[in-house]
Amino acid sequence: MSTLSRRTLLRGLGGSASLAALAACSTSTQTPLTGATSPGRTFRTGPAVTATRGQRVVEKALTARPATIDLGGPVVSTWAYDDALPGPLIRANAGDLIRVRLTNRLPAETTVHWHGIRLANAADGVPGLTQNPIKDGDTYTYAFTAPDPGTYFYHPHVGVQLDRGLYAPLIIDDPSEPGAYDAEWVLVLDDWVDGTGRTPEQVLRNLTSGKSSDGAPSVPGMTGMTGMGGVGGSTGMQMGPEPFGDAGDVTYPYYLINGRVASAPTLMRARPGQRVRLRIINAGADTIFTVALGGHEMTITHSDGFPTQPTQARALHVGMGERYDAVVTVKDGVFPFVAVPFGKKGQAMAVLRTAPAGAAPPATAKPTELAATALLGTQLEPAESARMAPRAADLTAPVALTGQMSPYGWGINGATYGRNDPVLVREGQRVRLNLVNQTMMAHPYHVHGHTFALAGSGLRKDTVLLRPMQSLPIEIDTDNVGSWLTHCHNIYHAEAGMMLELRYQR
Ligand code: C2O
Ligand code: CU
Repeated sequence: MSTLSRRTLLRGLGGSASLAALAACSTSTQTPLTGATSPGRTFRTGPAVTATRGQRVVEKALTARPATIDLGGPVVSTWAYDDALPGPLIRANAGDLIRVRLTNRLPAETTVHWHGIRLANAADGVPGLTQNPIKDGDTYTYAFTAPDPGTYFYHPHVGVQLDRGLYAPLIIDDPSEPGAYDAEWVLVLDDWVDGTGRTPEQVLRNLTSGKSSDGAPSVPGMTGMTGMGGVGGSTGMQMGPEPFGDAGDVTYPYYLINGRVASAPTLMRARPGQRVRLRIINAGADTIFTVALGGHEMTITHSDGFPTQPTQARALHVGMGERYDAVVTVKDGVFPFVAVPFGKKGQAMAVLRTAPAGAAPPATAKPTELAATALLGTQLEPAESARMAPRAADLTAPVALTGQMSPYGWGINGATYGRNDPVLVREGQRVRLNLVNQTMMAHPYHVHGHTFALAGSGLRKDTVLLRPMQSLPIEIDTDNVGSWLTHCHNIYHAEAGMMLELRYQR
């Protein structure tokens, strides 16, 4: 029943990323397949979480099951929440108790992870780390308080299920927010392959068996060039286009906004002069998007839920797992909102209409805003209210992102998840994680259960995009006891082993 076992897929990096990377350039040397040890633990269901006095409860029942979805032309068989793509929006106020009862009708085990929420560890949805996987036919109740307002999303944390249709927005409102906008537009970006002749599991199998994502044989000696972990310098070792170089492993036939291809876009109506709040969520598995709204400059206001200094941008890069909020005062007319996959062909589009007449933009519309240098999230500055208090780090830990395309293998600190040593922390510490990307690919790094600050600017985020070879120290306050995953949010990299546990000790 369980389609693929991690054990058969993982290639150990053999504890030496640089050796593996060197081997990547030679077709004759292959890192041997080794079974990775997974830190699988088993769990009892704890006591039911009940609301505290006066706490509002938001309840929701969700069913994960196979569904046939019309993407606006292409019809695909996939897995989805409540047969919808994206799945149903869950919305609550900060401080509410959210209780979601998930029924699993998939032909596989699953879990739900509430991405970005600083919730209780038991509700985090990581099988083997915070709960048992939910078996086919079972139901499981998640109950947690969401402390911070912002734009979030939810998705499974089993295998590469995120690259099916299993994702949906989660919005936490601030009850005291002045509401300086008239309308809201939630934009969920995705790269789509499921039901087009390949499932995500087949894509992963193709990659781990040395083929390209569509199953074609990859050119010997070429794919290895993308992953020269920290070695560099050899002839032919080139970074791709700026700023991310080689940004993805998977070729996708479609790119979607709110479950629709660009030729059948979702429509947002507003009146000229209204202030519209955009909530942009990258739910893609392997694609960095560059977004722009034709005819408008966006004012970026939030990054991963937390307020930033308002910053003007004509175009913005959004990594997998990142969310940005922006406000625009909308003009009179019909405007494309486009999401261009970095380094890949095609685009996703949605349409903003404030005028009754006027032709819809073509699916290939390229707003001139895209010609501007797009803003990188790491260039934003935090709002004062989002800053962490200055404090010296009690503990510093290295987090080196390592691995390569050929043989396909990704890890942290030179080893796959379960073979690398957890970062051991205690409650009440300021912990500095020295993120260093030792590969020639971009990686969006995500930390569960905490929001970190970039060591330089103090920008608060839970997912940050590292360019090839970039070093980016981040700091967290250990205020949420538990065992937490940190990982690359390229879901194929994560599943290949690019994950690391952050473990509180007593
Ligand atoms: Cu969306 Cu473990 O992450
Ligand atoms: Cu990655």
